[in-house]
Amino acid sequence: MKYFLDSAKINEIREAYDTFGIDGVTTNPNHIMNSGKPFFTVIGELAEFVKEKDILGWEKFPISVEINPHLDDADEMVAMGAKIAAMCPNFVIKIPCTEAGIAAARRLEQHGVRTNLTLVFSGSQALIAAKNHSLFVSPFLGWKENSGEDPKQYIADIVTMYKNFGFYGKTEIICAAVRTGKQFVDCAVAGADIVTAGLQVFKDSFYHPFTDYGLAKFQAAWDKTITE
Ligand code: E4P
Repeated sequence: MKYFLDSAKINEIREAYDTFGIDGVTTNPNHIMNSGKPFFTVIGELAEFVKEKDILGWEKFPISVEINPHLDDADEMVAMGAKIAAMCPNFVIKIPCTEAGIAAARRLEQHGVRTNLTLVFSGSQALIAAKNHSLFVSPFLGWKENSGEDPKQYIADIVTMYKNFGFYGKTEIICAAVRTGKQFVDCAVAGADIVTAGLQVFKDSFYHPFTDYGLAKFQAAWDKTITE
């Protein structure tokens, strides 16, 4: 299972890449706002980052960039998506799973621009993304869990549907808004392709107090041992 960082902060992306070897990045308008920089400045920095790291191309390191969320006309969505995609071969165009968004993603994919259908909250939304050949689909876990739903079964169902109809591995499932290490495991067990989460979620999921406990125990043993 691949790990994507959900962020538009270049310092976080750099840290996650250098420390944990993340496989890609997802951004959204919220993350761009939190970066404190203009939209085109942020995506320009991302385009420079992949050049610097020699990971050009969406196949090596996909970066999802979301179009203006006010757009509700497929022609306008396609135009903005094409403009962003032309800036960097790593950019995958993130589009909301609305009727206009589905039409726009379908057209962009037909013209070779890779897409990520986002704000997906049902199996039937996930299915239409795959039927129209989007590269990615982004079902949100954390928001569902907050509202009392079971995201574990939701992801397992999407994996099963994709396997049933030959979409598995073609449209990759990005489990989004992941909040806990437990959810990472649930996604991996279900067979999801990718999880995307914030930097602190990754850090918390890689921490276990027994590791520190064991390390202290081994350090004490080392100190009581003659090395030569
Ligand atoms: C996914 O692609 C989204 O960017 C993301 O997970 C949104 O949710 P959050 O900001 O609540 O985590």
